[in-house]
Amino acid sequence: MNTAEFIPKSLDKLVEKASFTWQTPSNIALVKYWGKSNPQIPKNASISFTLDNCHTITTIDFERREKSNEVDFDLFFEGKPKEEFKPKIRAFFKRIEQYCPYLFDYKLTINSENSFPHSSGIASSASGMAAIAMCLMSLEAEINADLSKEFINKKASFLARLGSGSASRSIEGPIVVWGKHPEIKGGSDLFGVKFSKDIHSNFKNYQDTILLVDKGEKQVSSTVGHNLMINHPYAENRFNQANDNLEKMASILQNGDLDTFINLVESEALTLHAMMMTSNPYFILMKPNTLEIINKIWEFRQETNSKVCFTLDAGANVHVLYPEKEKESVVQFIDNQLSKFCQKNHYICDQVGLGAKRL
Ligand code: DP6
Repeated sequence: MNTAEFIPKSLDKLVEKASFTWQTPSNIALVKYWGKSNPQIPKNASISFTLDNCHTITTIDFERREKSNEVDFDLFFEGKPKEEFKPKIRAFFKRIEQYCPYLFDYKLTINSENSFPHSSGIASSASGMAAIAMCLMSLEAEINADLSKEFINKKASFLARLGSGSASRSIEGPIVVWGKHPEIKGGSDLFGVKFSKDIHSNFKNYQDTILLVDKGEKQVSSTVGHNLMINHPYAENRFNQANDNLEKMASILQNGDLDTFINLVESEALTLHAMMMTSNPYFILMKPNTLEIINKIWEFRQETNSKVCFTLDAGANVHVLYPEKEKESVVQFIDNQLSKFCQKNHYICDQVGLGAKRL
């Protein structure tokens, strides 16, 4: 695995002070990443829609200091110091320090906030890690003016992946693939790449309304979750199936076949949960209201011929996906028939977005 290209060659021009702010999106996988080996290498390729409204905004202030042997940082979340988030970030810096050795020369002050409520059950690790990675790459670009935009995005995705696998898919948009795959030119286990084929107009501005069924802490952390795939009786089949599904999805995204899209996306979501139900220890992460919503979506589709469908993360919330041209009717359906299954009737309207933005 060639990681050498991510180690900077020269660190001559360290700047004294710098500050960068990045807005980075969350993403929703269509073909899921579930199962990994060290260091953050996925067992199968995955593909996701980059989101837009669900994002993290992070500012990092860098101030030159005497060289230390550990990355020195303060962390503020929504304006307040956040000690409980620090171990995860410290572990992230530890993993990336060989690729960003200049970090030892700075004191970092990290200020972060999410556009979605913290207790919404929406994972913030993807957008959060991506934001830090972009800020680090902005600093690296000041130190080394020769870096191309392409390299910056590639290395940002590489770094973000080391923080959280799915974060590798939160740098670019509208559709990103992470993981080596014969159908994906340039695809890599080390970083996400933009899906480079022509995307059918059916998927333009595709909508994702996130129904907040359960706003609590995740029942199963992603580390525990991915580990469930070790010695899982169906693991090998699942990894092969995901890679096959990715190939199918790549065709669907080009030919615009929404019926096949719906079938594949829903099957992926239920398979992810099936893996959790059939692992040991076993988990049911859906709630009764998750199933109520799924059944209502199926009924609505049958009655109206709508192309609305659902997908799930490793939790109870439901992502409702639909073409932009159905926006009015589906939002009305959500309001009338689905919002009652959400905590405090709460849902978030989002759509496919274009990736990280420097503010
Ligand atoms: C179910 O990226 O959160 O959302 O690499 O351990 O941080 P770590 O895991 P994480 O796993 C995401 C799993 C998923 C599916 C997906 O996004 O592909």
